[in-house]
Amino acid sequence: MLRLAIAGDLHGQWDALDAALIERLAPDALLVVGDLADGDLRFPRRLRELNLPVACVLGNHDAGRDASGRTLALMEQALGPLHCGWSLRLLDPPGLAVVGGRPGSPGGGFYLSAAVKAHWGELSLFDSAERITAAARQAPPDLPLVLLAHAGPSGLGSAASDPCGRDWKRPACDWGDQDLQEAIVRIRRTRPVPLVVFGHMHHRLRHGAGQRRSLHRDRQGTVYLNAACVPRHDVDAHGAPLRHFCWVEVSAGGSVTLASQRWFHGDGAIEREELLLCSPALPC
Ligand SMILES: [Fe+2]
Repeated sequence: MLRLAIAGDLHGQWDALDAALIERLAPDALLVVGDLADGDLRFPRRLRELNLPVACVLGNHDAGRDASGRTLALMEQALGPLHCGWSLRLLDPPGLAVVGGRPGSPGGGFYLSAAVKAHWGELSLFDSAERITAAARQAPPDLPLVLLAHAGPSGLGSAASDPCGRDWKRPACDWGDQDLQEAIVRIRRTRPVPLVVFGHMHHRLRHGAGQRRSLHRDRQGTVYLNAACVPRHDVDAHGAPLRHFCWVEVSAGGSVTLASQRWFHGDGAIEREELLLCSPALPC
């Protein structure tokens, strides 16, 4: 069984990337959904210093305010092999194939920012879907496959509170990425996709409308997890710091058996947990 910790959008929260806590939790891998710190290169460097398998995809904020693409290039370079945008990152051990979605995505169907076009070039929705699909084809068939994206796929609902629903402007609509949805359809022709992890659309809804629905499971059994708890730091009743991670467990057969949101104390103890999914065969 694989135990995966997923860090939502960091947005420059340096303390939320707590290396000592991650070491105590000792997940088999750490997945990072992007929007690290508006182009601050200390963050990708810190991710590379962590002593466990890590995969990351850059988000729309990682270009900073630089439309030239140079900041994106530096961020990608600083992440090195950790970055899996449009590519396969094989984490073996522990035995996990991670394929990245389109990096730098702001959601909203299919939109390429000036920085993205400058750094990675122009491409169509179907070109992008094919890049993701081609990366998945390279994954060993016996390893569980996780798609890691900054913005989630379209098709998960059009209400503001859906995993990729637009909540900042009316009318609410589906703000997911169409190329990622298309890639999932294509990949499933040859293998299952047990888990799709993403961020970007923050859990806390605008205008005091409550919290977003962060998990969806479709009829094919794919689990979609929005990990964008922002901010990822909090304090308990005594003022002690807490850190947030989504936590997912994947069975040897490649099924997601548990998904939850957890707030941890610095010593690794769980302060509170919201269970999002557990296998029918296991007690919740
Ligand atoms: Fe974002």
